[in-house]
Amino acid sequence: MVIIEVNNNSASAKIALQGAHIFHYARKGEKPLLWLSDISDFQDGKAIRGGVPVCWPSFGMNNPNLPQHGFARTALFEHQSTKEIDANTTEVILTLSYSQETLTLWPYKFELELKVTVSDKLTMELITKNIDDKVFKITQALHTYFPVSHISDAKIKGLNNKPYLDALTSEQLTQSGDVIFEEEVDRVYQEVNSEVLLVDRDRTIHIQNEGSSSVVVWNPWIEKGKRMSAMRDDAYNDFVCIESANAFEDFRLIEPGESHTLKATIY
Ligand code: BG6
Repeated sequence: MVIIEVNNNSASAKIALQGAHIFHYARKGEKPLLWLSDISDFQDGKAIRGGVPVCWPSFGMNNPNLPQHGFARTALFEHQSTKEIDANTTEVILTLSYSQETLTLWPYKFELELKVTVSDKLTMELITKNIDDKVFKITQALHTYFPVSHISDAKIKGLNNKPYLDALTSEQLTQSGDVIFEEEVDRVYQEVNSEVLLVDRDRTIHIQNEGSSSVVVWNPWIEKGKRMSAMRDDAYNDFVCIESANAFEDFRLIEPGESHTLKATIY
C-alpha cells in the first residue's frame, strides 16, 4: 500500500492512498488519537480496521446497490498535493474521481476530495462535487475510531436530549445524560449542532463537526466484536467510534455544479 507519512513540529500522521484512509495521528509526545487494530489488513480492496474510514457515497447499507459504507474506503485516491503551511501545520489533499467502475456501481459523475490538515488538531474536510448534469444524493461519514483506556471508562458528552435512531432495534429514542457503554451500541444521533466530547480516564477528546447534524456512535461489544473482521475478539474494550456523518435524515442532495463539505476537527 502506498502511504503518506507526515511529521511536523506539532504532530505526526499516516494516510493510505487507498480510501484516503488516515490510520495514525498523534500530537508530539502524546498517545495516538486514533485507534488501529493491531491485526488490521493492509491489503488492496480491504478497508483498514481503525483510523478514519471514509464512508461514501453511502453510509451503512443506505444504498443496497453499493457495498456497506460505499466504495470510497477501498478506492485508490490520487495524491494532489502536500503543503507545509508552517512548521506546525501540513496540508495533504487526496482526490477520487468517477471512473467506468464507479459509474457501474453509482451512475453519477463526481469529484471527491479529502483535505487533511495535520497540526495540534486533526482536521478533515470531505468535499463532494457534483460534476454531472443530474442531482445526486449522498449519505456519508468520517468513521473515526478513537482509542479508550477501557470501554467502561468512556463516556460521551454533548448528546444529552438529542433524538437518535437505534440501529439495533430501529426505534427512535431520546438520549438522557451521557452515552456510556454496557452493551452493543449502534446509534445515529440527530440534530447535533455543537461539540461532542469523548471523556476517558485520563483525557478528553473534542470532536467538532461542520456540514453535518448527525453523529454515529458505535461499539460492537462482545458478540458482534467476535464476528468483526480484522480485529481481536476483545478489541471492543479498546475503542469507540464517533462518526461525523450525514446519515439517515441528514442525507444531502447535491445539485449539478454544487458541492458539499463535511468537516471534522478532532483534538
Ligand atoms: C458502523 C455501523 O458505522 O460501522 C455498524 O453503524 C457497523 O453497524 C460498523 O458494524 C462497522 O462496519 P464495517 O463495514 O467497517 O465492518
